[in-house]
Amino acid sequence: MLKRVGILINGGDAPGLNAVIRAITRTAERNNVECYGFIDGFNGLLNNNYIRLDKQIVTSGILHKGGAIIGSSLNANVFNYKVIENGEVVYKDLSEQCVQNLKDDQIDCLFTLGGDSTQKSARDFSLRGINVIGVPKTIDNDVACTDVTFGFNTAVSVATEALDRLHTTAETHNRIMVLEVMGRYAGWITLESAIAGGADVALLPEIPYDMDKVVEKIKERQKIGKNFSVVVVSEGAFPKGGNISIKDTREGGKGVINVQLGGSGDIVAKELEKRTGLVTRNTTLGYMQRGGTPSATDRILSTRYGAKAMELALEGKFNVLTVLRNGKLDCVSLEDVVGNNKEIGAVEGGTKESNMKTIKMDDDLIKTARNIGICLGD
Ligand code: F6P
Repeated sequence: MLKRVGILINGGDAPGLNAVIRAITRTAERNNVECYGFIDGFNGLLNNNYIRLDKQIVTSGILHKGGAIIGSSLNANVFNYKVIENGEVVYKDLSEQCVQNLKDDQIDCLFTLGGDSTQKSARDFSLRGINVIGVPKTIDNDVACTDVTFGFNTAVSVATEALDRLHTTAETHNRIMVLEVMGRYAGWITLESAIAGGADVALLPEIPYDMDKVVEKIKERQKIGKNFSVVVVSEGAFPKGGNISIKDTREGGKGVINVQLGGSGDIVAKELEKRTGLVTRNTTLGYMQRGGTPSATDRILSTRYGAKAMELALEGKFNVLTVLRNGKLDCVSLEDVVGNNKEIGAVEGGTKESNMKTIKMDDDLIKTARNIGICLGD
């Protein structure tokens, strides 16, 4: 009999987090299950810092709100946790403390709302005997085994709105406008917003770009009297034979997602201005994509994911990720989500072994983009 469940969030926020919390809590209450939220994700789990979530007060009126009422942990891997000992930074496996806390709190199932790295830790907890159910969160849409993650639709909408605005100023001043968007090693936000926003060029991490091809596209447009262009660049895009743009390395490279990406848009903008003679400006959209109210689509998806996750818990189906496949709610084993990144506590997030969902070249979206003449830099 399921009595108490816990929720934790790890990683960057994504629109729809509160909607998931609300749906889990509501479904739990209808089945006489108590719901708890760990404050600031894995940090709350480690320090046993949690609050009771109820339908009546705490989770009331949060459906449309951005962020998360229980916070989130960033770059926190309790299997490889940063601690200061004698003035020195060391990394330790503190997962046993978390397991003990869950046992003391009598939490029968832990819901882990997060992306690739979070679900890796969730899988690692399942191997330590904890019942876990993951919910795929990230604006990047790069979690394996699911069609879509919550937060992605809102991020695409924000990027599309930015492109619409850049379009009019580009046209007015005969400029090239570059928009750098998030997505780390996956170009989903770039590709979908480029299609929705009518961009001329979309540069993805999956296709190392050839600047000659991009210049060619812009010159073709000039020949037909279009003296402006709109270019979307993934933060993880890089030129053929070149490197990804890293803004900063965090925690000496030992943390979870240890590199901060950024700068790809500026690089593309500078090169385009030099080679086309058109004034070129870059806008980095950044955290605008993550914050704020979720779209209706994300509210619905998050609610479906949250209710399904609780349903799975009631059925006793643990150590799975709640997913959407061909439009239908389902679940897959966390082992499948983790892919080849089997080692407990291994650093995750874009490692070679991780099972991150990137865009395949036979994806319909790639074909659509090519069919309508969007230059993908190849
Ligand atoms: O994973 C979501 C994401 O928004 C990425 O697209 C981006 O690279 C990253 O988070 C930036 O996160 P932060 O600076 O908060 O670590």
